[in-house]
Amino acid sequence: MMSTNHLVIFDTTLRDGEQSPGASMTKAEKLRIAKALERMKVDVIEAGFAIASPGDFDSVKAIAGSVKDSTVCSLARALDKDIDRAAEALKPAKSARIHTFIATSPIHMKYKLQMEPDQVVEQAVRAVKRARGYTDNVEFSCEDAGRSEIDFLCRIIEAAIDAGAGTINIPDTVGYAIPEQFGDTIRTLIERIPNADKAIFSVHCHNDLGLAVANSLAAVSHGARQVECTINGLGERAGNASLEEIVMAVRTRKDLFCIDTQIETQHIVPTSRLVSTITGFPVQPNKAIVGANAFAHESGIHQDGVLKHRETYEIMRAEDVGWHTNSLVLGKHSGRNAFRTRLQELGHVFETESELNEAFTRFKELADKKHEIFDEDLQALVSAGAGSDIEGKFKLVCMSVASETGVTPVAKLTLEVEGVEHTVSSEGSGPVDAAFRAIESMAESGASLQLYSVNAITSGTDSQGEVTVRLERGGRIVNGVGADTDIVIASAKAYVNALNLISREHTRHHPQGDV
Ligand code: KIV
Ligand code: ZN
Repeated sequence: MMSTNHLVIFDTTLRDGEQSPGASMTKAEKLRIAKALERMKVDVIEAGFAIASPGDFDSVKAIAGSVKDSTVCSLARALDKDIDRAAEALKPAKSARIHTFIATSPIHMKYKLQMEPDQVVEQAVRAVKRARGYTDNVEFSCEDAGRSEIDFLCRIIEAAIDAGAGTINIPDTVGYAIPEQFGDTIRTLIERIPNADKAIFSVHCHNDLGLAVANSLAAVSHGARQVECTINGLGERAGNASLEEIVMAVRTRKDLFCIDTQIETQHIVPTSRLVSTITGFPVQPNKAIVGANAFAHESGIHQDGVLKHRETYEIMRAEDVGWHTNSLVLGKHSGRNAFRTRLQELGHVFETESELNEAFTRFKELADKKHEIFDEDLQALVSAGAGSDIEGKFKLVCMSVASETGVTPVAKLTLEVEGVEHTVSSEGSGPVDAAFRAIESMAESGASLQLYSVNAITSGTDSQGEVTVRLERGGRIVNGVGADTDIVIASAKAYVNALNLISREHTRHHPQGDV
């Protein structure tokens, strides 16, 4: 293994994270997250799986063209067509990586690939060589390494390094590993593979047993020098190792790990919020580092201790990961420049003047309703703006609801459907139910509501409510998000956004689904 005390942080929020049901993102949303990751100084951003769909290809290409300080990576199965497509999408990148993979466990080789081990080695070598034809920066992954035989791993990895792979990734694809055993696997591979010193060993752990971070850290202790992770631990099924936990663990326990990342940790909380807002996946309050309670001391003894000497109960400083106490940032009289600058500090860069102007108009409207505007409001404002930009059939023009004790609530809405305005109304068991029924009476989407959640963005009764609506149709799941100081309006916006997402054409391959 290359001797280094730098831990490469490889973020796969935009690829594995997007494989969470309902977490699919638009190109504009992915670009915003990629820029936030770049600002945080993530070493490698896995921007997507270029061959999955034309939309995925465009997103990888746009990120490759826009990100300059991080390496941009695309996933590719060990197939010529995947590698060629990844290379094409990555052409604009200043620094590009192709990440190719093939399954190596007996169960995957037999049932999924229906290939003999010799054929798998041959295909892996061919893929790495083809990828090297495009870039010097090639990563090879042994899918389901967590359940693969060590002798076979040694054989295929040695061949992949000989073929030119500079990073070897050991995924625990199904979240089966246990820290001690996984750390031991990494150590054994590094010791036994004769050319191991020519590659960086990486890990990619899933969280099915809640051990993704523990397994990744065990691997780091035994020589891994890249960790693949996601913001908020997003990812397939129970998710991946969470970036914020990995980064803060190695930083807080530098005495044990003796290793550094280059992550600028003060951007962690804003980036976590951005990902949560865009995907509609809320962060649980007791989530380490980025949960609302992560630095909140409830018990009197703890509060007293922290006031006397912070380190009595705190091992990290909240401000080091980007927490601040709801600082009042802008108000009604703030100008366009202050608005743009603050959003830039929060990781949102306006691509065009007209985008800035539209967001600034929404900001002024919000400032009329809500006197104190916090960072959280600004982030919701640009996210909701991006949401309403979701090109689609439906647009909410205006709405009213009547809700009174003892009387059935009624919602009346005007919706623009493909440019034509229609007014609809419906009763419901509550104002939100009435609004959704009214929208459905026009849209007739046939989608089923899987989740409705409301989150107050800041404290106080004038807070904006941020609503997530998850719809399912024909096995496809989407999340629509809307924000407003009126939660019924926020709910209607979220529902309309979800409808626009679900009515889009969508054919997409899952990277691990077929070969
Ligand atoms: O979990 C996994 O094995 C993956 C690979 C494609 C790296 O996501
Ligand atoms: Zn994965």
